[in-house]
Amino acid sequence: MGQRRWVFLLAVFAFLLSFSSGTDVLKLKSDDGQPLYNHTLTMTLVEYASAVYMSDLSELFNWTCKRCNGFTKGFEVIEIIFDVEHCLQAYVGVAKDLNAIIIAFRGTQQHSIQNWVSDLFWKQLDLNYPDMADAMVHHGFYTAYHNTTVRPAVLGAVQRAKKSYGPNINIMVTGHSMGGAMATFCGLDLVVNEGEEKVQVMTFGQPRVGNSAFASYYSLLVPNTFRITHDHDIVPHLPPYCNQFPQKTYHHFPTEVWVRDNFSNLISAEKVCDNTGEDPTCSRSVKGNSISDHLRYFGVELHCETWRQCSIVMSHEMDRFSKKDSKGNLIMSRTLPSTNGNKTDTLIENGDL
Ligand SMILES: *[C@@H]1O[C@H](CO)[C@@H](O)[C@H](O)[C@H]1NC(C)=O
Ligand SMILES: *[C@@H]1O[C@H](CO)[C@@H](O)[C@H](O)[C@H]1NC(C)=O
Ligand SMILES: *[C@@H]1O[C@H](CO)[C@@H](O)[C@H](O)[C@H]1NC(C)=O
Ligand SMILES: *[C@@H]1O[C@H](CO)[C@@H](O)[C@H](O)[C@H]1NC(C)=O
Ligand SMILES: *[C@@H]1O[C@H](CO)[C@@H](O)[C@H](O)[C@H]1NC(C)=O
Repeated sequence: MGQRRWVFLLAVFAFLLSFSSGTDVLKLKSDDGQPLYNHTLTMTLVEYASAVYMSDLSELFNWTCKRCNGFTKGFEVIEIIFDVEHCLQAYVGVAKDLNAIIIAFRGTQQHSIQNWVSDLFWKQLDLNYPDMADAMVHHGFYTAYHNTTVRPAVLGAVQRAKKSYGPNINIMVTGHSMGGAMATFCGLDLVVNEGEEKVQVMTFGQPRVGNSAFASYYSLLVPNTFRITHDHDIVPHLPPYCNQFPQKTYHHFPTEVWVRDNFSNLISAEKVCDNTGEDPTCSRSVKGNSISDHLRYFGVELHCETWRQCSIVMSHEMDRFSKKDSKGNLIMSRTLPSTNGNKTDTLIENGDL
């Protein structure tokens, strides 16, 4: 698909969605043990997942960016991580109205989303997930979270937030596309390695990240996970699922929520899918052939404002919040009052900064 065609589709889509007034929840269930799907929470988290794409880090840090509005008003950013080496961006903060720490990961920021998507066809299951027999994942997705400046900074910020807001605060991890894959590994890490109990994950348009053994472990360990897919979004179809080799292929974990656009009444409908992760009546029932469906969920844009090389904007008045390592990776950090009235330490303990 050429760039112009893509822009055209996006424009048509934006036009149509600008008329949509609300959403129709098809199914809400909790009686069979699946976690309860909450549409309002989804509308909130999609805004958090959208804001992490903003490149003006001063505005993002102060939560004054133009996407830092609506359901996310009043959010307090604690930390922004910009890993320039791997072109990754994430933030951690506290939403007092949700009594939750929010962790959000940005998707890829490349000139060509098409190239990124084409590459997804060929991703191998090439890493054993540590300490989980038979669980295989994609090395690149795994290392983006585990082997960059992202993980130590995120975990440090979570610890500081808990010191300040108390141990009973919820943790909600979100992200779109590649950021959804990182959110998956972060949520699992918080449960497995940090012993966190109140972890929820909600991703938008994420690719598959591991095999069925991995999906089983994941859904046992992080049951409160929703994987939102939008209509014909191509990315949740990748890397491909091959039902001739169910044990050797990529396999999604539950619970998918498939969002369909209904062009006859311009309202989208959400379907909460089954607990297999690969519900044949959800997004798998259609061809994954749309990039524009990937870049917009519920009318919220999930991409940078401009496609360009990895870059950020930051004013010098923010220098006192910022630290750079020798490779240019940047961390912006806010000092929080601790519950006993003392300031907590802003140093990132495990980082190589
Ligand atoms: C859904 O989430 C919202 C916050 O986004 C919360 O206020 C509401 O109580 C939740 N509803 C249910 C039924 O849990
Ligand atoms: C962000 O907040 C800081 C501290 O309150 C302030 O000094 C700075 O001017 C603000 N910057 C922007 C871009 O809003
Ligand atoms: C993480 O990075 C280090 C150094 O860059 C490398 O030696 C190591 O193999 C990497 N680990 C994984 C799991 O990729
Ligand atoms: C679209 O909406 C119309 C009117 O509400 C409804 O009759 C129809 O079944 C919907 N189509 C789908 C695919 O949900
Ligand atoms: C703040 O920290 C100092 C030194 O760590 C300690 O002596 C003091 O008691 C603390 N204040 C409160 C209110 O806990």
